[in-house]
Amino acid sequence: RYTKIYILFFKVRLLTSTDSTCSLPSDWDGTWYDASFPSNNVIFDQASQTVTSGWSIRAYNSDVTSWTCQSQDTSNNLLLFKGNQFVDLFGADQNAFRCIKWTKLSDYSYVYFIYANSESNARYTGTTIAARVLIEAYDAAVTSWATSTYCNPSNGLPGTEEYVVMVRQGYETQVSQYCSTPFLITAAYTHNDGSSTTCGTGSVWDVCSDRTQMAVNLTQCSTKQYYSADGNAVCVYSTSSGSTYYQTVLNTDTSVDYSTTYRLTCYAVTTSGSNVVASDSLGACEAGQSPTTKATDGTGTLTFTPYTFTTDTDSSSSSSSLGIIIGIVVALILIIAIIIIIICVIKKLKRKAKTHNDDEKKKNPPDDMVLETFTPRDDQPITDRKLPPLDNKVSIPPSNYEIPLIGKDPLPNIHQTKI
Ligand SMILES: *[C@@H]1O[C@H](CO)[C@@H](O)[C@H](O)[C@H]1NC(C)=O
Repeated sequence: RYTKIYILFFKVRLLTSTDSTCSLPSDWDGTWYDASFPSNNVIFDQASQTVTSGWSIRAYNSDVTSWTCQSQDTSNNLLLFKGNQFVDLFGADQNAFRCIKWTKLSDYSYVYFIYANSESNARYTGTTIAARVLIEAYDAAVTSWATSTYCNPSNGLPGTEEYVVMVRQGYETQVSQYCSTPFLITAAYTHNDGSSTTCGTGSVWDVCSDRTQMAVNLTQCSTKQYYSADGNAVCVYSTSSGSTYYQTVLNTDTSVDYSTTYRLTCYAVTTSGSNVVASDSLGACEAGQSPTTKATDGTGTLTFTPYTFTTDTDSSSSSSSLGIIIGIVVALILIIAIIIIIICVIKKLKRKAKTHNDDEKKKNPPDDMVLETFTPRDDQPITDRKLPPLDNKVSIPPSNYEIPLIGKDPLPNIHQTKI
């Protein structure tokens, strides 16, 4: 009986450790920028496992603004948050759930996906984008919510492009990564807002000077890019699906006003012939965002005409060339060693042969050896022994002699030939 109780207790303990408490990543405290909510900052409170403000979702006619973590799945990095405010649906209280699957990029940057269906009656506040959020009728009898149930959207998981980047405020310059491949250019660019085109020749979009940063010059073209007033942004995260890349950048302006300037922008970008084309979206990329189509929450499309390209592989290529150099040096040392060994062996053999010859010389000539005696013929000077003079009868064809060509000139008749 005691064993049974112990097993039950153990089971409860197991459930508790995986599902009933939350521990947010330790960095999740204080003020962050969150691409799902581009119109405001987000504040985490590590101690109470809550998002105290900034995760603002308007569902039906209610606003849910603060959320408390209810459960987690530590092996899958899932965190399930429940709204602290009810959603009112025709007088009936509803709970709102936001399940996220997170990945750490750095101490000050994370990326997450929302494991919930898109809710057509909910919007991220400040955007026109349908929010991924689970709305469920409130039931006083239910007091715990498991990730296994609440993190399984019936319409499937979000697409590659629907990632959400978070960056800690105050660490804007410490979260940069290399920009994605199509953006590693310095280019002239045009911007189309859906009706008119601005920028063009003389407008430079520079990613080559610093491959982790984008720079445009607003004197050259006053159309704002990445919602920046000074024209600078850092690349924070990118991913790709097929030939389309999704690039999130962070505006590094000293401050933003959340009406004309914002922190996070996502681009769908691809190479198209000799150009690069992109569409922007405020905050996160939109589901199905295409590089050639203006996104619902974007400023338009961009066409880049690059005049400089670069790559993100110089560190790896330098390490591989280091390998090649080491290989060459080792090979040279081996070759030199082999040559030295060969020289030594040859010298040794020569020395041996020389000693052998000397030994032979010391011996007397054998008795049967016949020594030829010197004769006067041998003394005759070489100049006296001339070759016979050339015979005049030897005929050589004269230099102007033409060799008869077969087929062109007929050969002379044999009967007419004089000998
Ligand atoms: C921006 O462009 C203008 C005009 O071409 C130039 O005078 C200015 O130096 C540029 N500013 C920067 C920061 O490069």
